[in-house]
Amino acid sequence: MSGPNTEYDPVAVTPLKADEVEAMRVAALDAVAAARDLEALKRVRTEHAGDRSPLALANREIGALPPQARKDAGMRVGRARGDVNQALAARQAELEAEAEARMLVEETVDVTLPWDLTPQGARHPLTTLQELVGDVFVAMGWEVAEGPEVEAEWLNFDALNLGADHPARTMQDTFWLEPADGGLVMRTHTSPVQARTMLQRRPPIYVVCPGRVFRTDELDATHTPVFSQVEGLVVDRGITMAHLKGTLDHFGEAMFGEGITTRFRPSYFPFTEPSAEVDLVCFVCRGREPAVHGCRTCKGEGWIEWGGCGVVNPRVLAACGIDSETYTGFAFGMGLERTLMFRHGVEDMRDLVEGDVRFTAAFGTEI
Ligand code: DAH
Repeated sequence: MSGPNTEYDPVAVTPLKADEVEAMRVAALDAVAAARDLEALKRVRTEHAGDRSPLALANREIGALPPQARKDAGMRVGRARGDVNQALAARQAELEAEAEARMLVEETVDVTLPWDLTPQGARHPLTTLQELVGDVFVAMGWEVAEGPEVEAEWLNFDALNLGADHPARTMQDTFWLEPADGGLVMRTHTSPVQARTMLQRRPPIYVVCPGRVFRTDELDATHTPVFSQVEGLVVDRGITMAHLKGTLDHFGEAMFGEGITTRFRPSYFPFTEPSAEVDLVCFVCRGREPAVHGCRTCKGEGWIEWGGCGVVNPRVLAACGIDSETYTGFAFGMGLERTLMFRHGVEDMRDLVEGDVRFTAAFGTEI
């Protein structure tokens, strides 16, 4: 006959044996220490401290023990569970701190990194200069005229009094288009726009013609095979060299500032008679005792070469069907690259053609 088990020996209840509980505790603490991240710790918590963990199951067994054994077993299991929970909390805090530190490193924004990995472009200063030149003349009531870059040989040369055997014809190193006898060239100057304008309309004519021109030059610090010019042409009654001088003085000041006027030096162009080279007052020394101070920009001259000009040759007027007894005119032509280089102290022509956005961006959208 069996009776109540008054002589209960807790050692006999396997899951509650001291060494069993200790083994559960150690296994749990090892697992907690081995958890490398919060995910792993979550799994350790379920496994070692969850409802179905060995220690929770052991805890449930306590109720089934005789009263005198409960206290001991309860204390043992309770302490083990307490240790495990404490270790879990400590590891949780540690892993959270680690995760946060890692996040701070990973998500750090380095405000010193360049933000403009695809730098925004800017309009080329030559384009803005061309527009500015146009504005200067439009403000005086002139018009802007344009012509093609592929030009008829006749307009580029013959109409401008540069006949086939004219020595000046070979001075401009020309790109000829195929076929060789097709009579087409890449225009070597903007002067053919003069001829086109005179052929198209009757005086009074006041036009300015900015555009690209081409010559077989090598690219270097002072030459480029593709460059830009601005041409001016006036044909009206009673036009003299004095009008030309006044116009260019105004143009010079508009480009380079007050006091930067021009001087003429006798020269020769087949399409003008008389002809002159236009010089500008040196905008660095302003022509004040340049030789004494040794100005490097004008090499002590006080003047800088800017372009060519003259009174339109009556032969050009005649070739374009304009009566040279009634009308006279003046014309001029300047290099725009040269003008830009003077204005902004650009020393190398290659900077203008290489298309480096760092060069154009420095000019922004205004010049
Ligand atoms: N066409 C000349 C050149 O390219 C520049 C020039 C000189 C234009 C005198 C003119 C002028 O209109 O009158 O070298």
